Amino acid sequence: MAAISLTVNGKTATVEAEPDTPLLWVVREHMKLTGTKFGCGSGLCGACTVHIDGKAMRSCQIAVSKVVGKKVTTIEGLSPTGTHALQKAFIAEQVPQCGYCQSGQIMQAAALLSKTKKPTRQQIVEAMDGNLCRCGTYPRIVRAIQRAAREA
Ligand code: FES
Ligand code: FES
Repeated sequence: MAAISLTVNGKTATVEAEPDTPLLWVVREHMKLTGTKFGCGSGLCGACTVHIDGKAMRSCQIAVSKVVGKKVTTIEGLSPTGTHALQKAFIAEQVPQCGYCQSGQIMQAAALLSKTKKPTRQQIVEAMDGNLCRCGTYPRIVRAIQRAAREA
């Protein structure tokens, strides 16, 4: 075990963890930020997507020791009031079904829109390709991202 300091959603915290503990576990178990989900644990589904220095990353695949000194953002920190354009658009388009994949979808989409303000449909599909939704909400996800790009 080691004392590891990391900055999540603008707050710095110190956790006692093995350095190779996946960031996902630290976020969920140590910090109780349970919006980030465990899907596959293998980097294949995107349910665990967070931002690291603004880039969408799979938190199940990153050791906590690798994010020291970096800025981690989870769904809880995307907007302090839950009013990010994507959050509003996902509600307006009634995207979620079971909801399990949705925080990962929104974090992936937010990283896209922060770089590409007005993505084409093709750019959206390509950026979202690795985020799986077993409920098949894909058409609504695309519509919501297009709406957020329009209304942001
Ligand atoms: S839980 Fe991390 S990619 Fe599936
Ligand atoms: S809404 Fe159920 S997995 Fe995506």
